[in-house]
Amino acid sequence: MIGEDLLKASEILKRGELVAIPTETVYGLAANALDPSAVAKIYDAKERPSFNPLIVHVASIKEAKKYVKEFPEIAEQIAKAFWPGSISLLLPKHSIIPDLTTAGLPNVVIRVPNHPLTLELLKSLDFPLAAPSANLSNTVSPTTAEHVQLGLGSKIEYIIDGGKSAIGLESTILAIEQDKLVILREGGVSREDILAKTGIKVGVNFSNKIQSPGNLKKHYSTSKPLYIVQDINKYIDSNPNGRYSALLFEEKKVLCKSHILSKTYSMSEIANNLFDYMRRADNDNSDCILIEPIKEIGIGRAIADRIVRAASKI
Ligand code: TXA
Ligand code: MG
Repeated sequence: MIGEDLLKASEILKRGELVAIPTETVYGLAANALDPSAVAKIYDAKERPSFNPLIVHVASIKEAKKYVKEFPEIAEQIAKAFWPGSISLLLPKHSIIPDLTTAGLPNVVIRVPNHPLTLELLKSLDFPLAAPSANLSNTVSPTTAEHVQLGLGSKIEYIIDGGKSAIGLESTILAIEQDKLVILREGGVSREDILAKTGIKVGVNFSNKIQSPGNLKKHYSTSKPLYIVQDINKYIDSNPNGRYSALLFEEKKVLCKSHILSKTYSMSEIANNLFDYMRRADNDNSDCILIEPIKEIGIGRAIADRIVRAASKI
């Protein structure tokens, strides 16, 4: 069932069952993060491999501190600047967080999401919510309640409808390595945003000591093949026999059906429409989807990451 009844949602969660929650990034499939049997239902419903840990959602920095062993100064700076918002922090977990939630890892990824309904729900609960994106593993992430209904509707008692996700890309995951911030997953907040707002320069996870098990190559996939091509019209010219659907970043004449993610190459609009339009192209009468490479600046890097994974065959 889809609705806005937060009392019903909290009653279901307190019973150890699943509820889909809206966030500003993508919809999440939530359960009591402190209850291993509730958390197990998330892995089942998503058909998610049990080695892939879940993000924990809380209402405030103060709440976050209850579930980690330490909250270093640099984490505090980031949390103060961006929470509620689209950054998740990897921190050493408190023993109260069950091993199943973190897939046996010693750290937990935690964030305060920026959606009024979900914040209100979190405040009404005395436990945090574990919530991965509310889609079947390896499929496109949901940015509306209807997307969740289509993919997981039969497996969830309740979906909170919070409208279309404002950002449309998953959160940026940061870890702290030798007192420095490193990006584990590109997402809704770019490294430029972080530098501008906090003066902190984030690095890449060069040492690869810390890994995000969910950074699998194939991910976010459409059911039709998706090809990244340098020039859509040239590609169609040389391969004239396909039925194509193009995903465009600006208004442009192409030799096939098209879905325009932004008329003006606005990165935030492209991010906001990406998953929804991948689904639309998947459902039109084309045989495959074409997309040109996106400029890798700002959140363009996170968008590129999702597109490359969606296009990956393995
Ligand atoms: O925006 C988001 O982050 C959304 C919303 C619902 O909050 N959630 C989300 O969750 O994207 P999910 O499960 O689809 O992606 C979480 C990623 C996975 O790649 C997972 O491997 C990684 O975070 N992750 C979670 N906990 C981790 C941990 N303890 N150590 C390393 N990586 C972790
Ligand atoms: Mg996901």
